[in-house]
Amino acid sequence: MIGRLNHVAIAVPDLAAASAQYRDTLGALVRDPQDEPAHGVTVVFIELPNTKIELLHPLGDKSPITGFLEKNPDGGIHHICFEVEDILAARDRLLASGARVLGGGEPKTGAHGKPVLFLHPKDFTGCLVELEQV
Ligand code: CO
Repeated sequence: MIGRLNHVAIAVPDLAAASAQYRDTLGALVRDPQDEPAHGVTVVFIELPNTKIELLHPLGDKSPITGFLEKNPDGGIHHICFEVEDILAARDRLLASGARVLGGGEPKTGAHGKPVLFLHPKDFTGCLVELEQV
């Protein structure tokens, strides 16, 4: 059911420092920061040949990653995102298997303008999983 790894999202305490590290130390193609007010994050996309890294930083006072950064002050992997062809079919299959789909189970528009869903980390070996319809 899942296809390509679309991105790995890393929550970071200092977006400029993390961007500079990926650009200058690791030599990656780093895009400009993008505010995503609907998701409470500022995102920096890093484009690798086979996938993307998304650096996430809280935006506003209700950001969903504020708590994560409090628990992980140096930053850390926040979620991984897999591509699916049909997000509603994927959701129904996951719900039938007993997995918990966050946010009531209705897809939202993600940072790439495509429908996304998140799956409970406790159901997936401690890792928050995002599904994106491509
Ligand atoms: Co994501």
